[in-house]
Amino acid sequence: MMSRRLEVGMARILGIGGYVPDKVMTNDDWAAIVDTTDEWITTRTGIKERRFAAEDESTLDLCVHAAERALADAGLAATDVGEIIVATDTPEVYMPDTASFLQHRLGCDTVPAYDLGGSGCAGFVQALDIARSRIAFADRKVLVIGVELISRLISWQERETCVLFGDGAGAVVLGSGAGQAELLDVVAGTDGSKTDILTLVAGGTRMPFTIETARSGAHQHLEMNGREVFKQAVHRMSGGVDDVLSRIGRTIDDVALVIPHQANKRIIDAVAKKAGIELDRVFVNVQSFGNTGSASVPLGLWQAREANRIAEGDLVVLTAFGAGFHWAAAALQF
Ligand code: ACO
Repeated sequence: MMSRRLEVGMARILGIGGYVPDKVMTNDDWAAIVDTTDEWITTRTGIKERRFAAEDESTLDLCVHAAERALADAGLAATDVGEIIVATDTPEVYMPDTASFLQHRLGCDTVPAYDLGGSGCAGFVQALDIARSRIAFADRKVLVIGVELISRLISWQERETCVLFGDGAGAVVLGSGAGQAELLDVVAGTDGSKTDILTLVAGGTRMPFTIETARSGAHQHLEMNGREVFKQAVHRMSGGVDDVLSRIGRTIDDVALVIPHQANKRIIDAVAKKAGIELDRVFVNVQSFGNTGSASVPLGLWQAREANRIAEGDLVVLTAFGAGFHWAAAALQF
């Protein structure tokens, strides 16, 4: 039997799309709900406002908007899609996965569709890693989405976490044909000894969802060791940039733009410093959207491209971290 050779580097980005809901939630809006101030949020995080989904929107709606834009950008129809991966921690329902709903809503054929859930904000870049191997082995067009509707699932009483997040979705279509950018390489890793620094415990088998968990608010309680997350984020995101560049034999001086996960402006500044890149070559939109979880990197990619921050010939590096503790970085040659 003939074996297929994995041709690393054959995956290309064919289209990019993004979507954020219309409703703007400012720091002052939060200050009217919890004991916080615009000054505290701005100085600690750089966030000024974020977008929240409307009451009649759900995770699927955000996915559909971003996916349709990415497909239109690629000049493809839904029926051209050969596989769907949705990275999210805030799915449409508990079961089945959001990807199944999306496949039907978009009008794709009965192609494989699955979620990458629970990997926090690293999910989209991890999904790129999976997608490129699916393209190498199965030569199909893969729709990859990062989406979060965090505002509906986390506590609106806990000021330590609620002010950090926003809703949105970003999507790319990948394939082996001519495209906008070649996915040169992806690095990814997980440190499972750090599951406790960012976790939402209730709802799983360890603490099933009950009247008591609902009464206590445990089902919406995000446990976060902010300082440890901060340290790990800087270490792993800058390490991801170094690793992916060394794998492709390039240096930080060759990079036109780094698009990091948008958790916090102070984290982004520290990552840039450690990676050795000036801030004018780092994309930042955390001030407008907050932390949109697994949507943040594809949303950044979409916005950067729309704002003409990316030109043909540019080397662009994506880097992300998330609960797990996961990290992943990707190099794109436009
Ligand atoms: N408004 C006012 N005060 C607040 C708020 C708020 N929204 N939240 C916390 N505080 C208070 C705390 O109660 C605490 O008060 P205390 O000192 O009286 O106990 C104090 O502020 C904490 O202040 P600092 O320790 O100085 O806060 P720090 O500088 O560590 O900033 C932050 C906190 C912003 C959470 C920071 O640690 C951080 O950014 N960590 C990374 C967290 C992150 O990005 N998480 C992303 C989640 S998911 C992901 O992206 C993978």
